[in-house]
Amino acid sequence: MNVREKINQEMIPVHVAIIMDGNGRWARKRGIARTMGHEKGVDAVRETVEAATELGIKYLTLYAFSTENWNRPKYEIAALMKLLVRSVNKEKKTFQENNIRLTTIGDLSNLPSRSHRELHKAIEETSANTGLTLILALSYSSRWEIIEAARKIAQQTLSGTIKPDQINAELFSTFLTTSSIPDPELLIRTSGEFRVSNFLLWQIAYTELYFTPTLWPDFTREEFYQAILDYQGRERRFGFTSEQIESSKKKSTTKIG
Ligand code: IPE
Ligand code: IPE
Ligand code: MG
Repeated sequence: MNVREKINQEMIPVHVAIIMDGNGRWARKRGIARTMGHEKGVDAVRETVEAATELGIKYLTLYAFSTENWNRPKYEIAALMKLLVRSVNKEKKTFQENNIRLTTIGDLSNLPSRSHRELHKAIEETSANTGLTLILALSYSSRWEIIEAARKIAQQTLSGTIKPDQINAELFSTFLTTSSIPDPELLIRTSGEFRVSNFLLWQIAYTELYFTPTLWPDFTREEFYQAILDYQGRERRFGFTSEQIESSKKKSTTKIG
């Protein structure tokens, strides 16, 4: 039985997030420019989006450019921004054909105006689609987002819209860029790094983590299936005991039956 056949369709995660890392090392291994690694990375994105759509995943968040990535050499940033526009424009037709809605999280105001404009066009054109929501994290970092949320809450508290004792996790979440998106059940990071690099820190409180040594340009649908399968074998306890989880599962089966 291949990996795809082993996946339980009843247990597909609603939201998968990916830190797509290793493009530069992929290129270095071949003695070519880092930007070539980013170009090749787009193929892996296409394959992953296809696989996610077929599996019926509702949200796929891809970390494409972090706040800290603005510190990279200017030519690399420029190449990434160009690649972004080119890829989004090229894939727009596929998004429509496959009912994919494109959206973003991050501080888009930092993006070059052309990238910003083209991206907005694609977001608008796909806004009525109801299949997979593809979320590109662009000029995104979790600390930026949490500080922005804190600032807005502080302003609304000062103006009297919010009372300090109303501030809880639920309210706080509504101020994050992911307010309309459920927390990811699974986070994948490629390239053998075991860190989160300022990505969705609030949202991954109970997310299952999957790390693979594969460099992003080499990432395939089989590896994506493998990560889903791995996730399906985990017991998510959310602070409860294993026995409590088992008994609540039995109760819900009894209710359904
Ligand atoms: C991930 O690959 C893509 C971005 C961060 C934009 P890297 O460019 O970080 O590749 P490595 O980590 O240097 O190999
Ligand atoms: C994380 O990768 C950001 C993206 C994948 C866009 P980095 O390559 O920037 O992260 P670090 O520097 O290795 O932590
Ligand atoms: Mg990297």
